[in-house]
Amino acid sequence: MRSDVPLSYYTGLLGMPGKTAYACFHEVCYPKEGEYVFVSAASGAVGQLVGEFAKFLCCYVVGSAGSKEKWCSCKEE
Ligand SMILES: NC(=O)c1ccc[n+]([C@@H]2O[C@H](COP(=O)([O-])OP(=O)(O)OC[C@H]3O[C@@H](n4cnc5c(N)ncnc54)[C@H](OP(=O)(O)O)[C@@H]3O)[C@@H](O)[C@H]2O)c1
Repeated sequence: MRSDVPLSYYTGLLGMPGKTAYACFHEVCYPKEGEYVFVSAASGAVGQLVGEFAKFLCCYVVGSAGSKEKWCSCKEE
């Protein structure tokens, strides 16, 4: 564990959700720059990271979420 990042990161990006999102997106889906990526449950712990990874790869990202509050948080945060 690194001491230079907040402990809370280990419940997200550096924890199981991050590992799951990274492995499933990069090592299962093999995305390519510019592709369209659809993320279901996009506001969830894993989904929001997949969306970020896809945007980082300059993919066009479409997500679904179960309520207006959830999709607002996806777009704004
Ligand atoms: N977090 C981890 O460390 C981890 C590790 C390994 C595997 N996983 C798997 O990855 C998936 C997502 O995990 P998560 O931690 O991101 O979960 P989460 O934050 O709890 O999000 C799950 C979301 O899935 C959506 N959902 C629930 N029931 C559904 C249904 N019947 N049909 C379609 N969507 C439904 C809901 O989002 P909406 O209401 O917005 O649709 C819910 O908020 C799960 O299958 C989980 O088992 C997670």
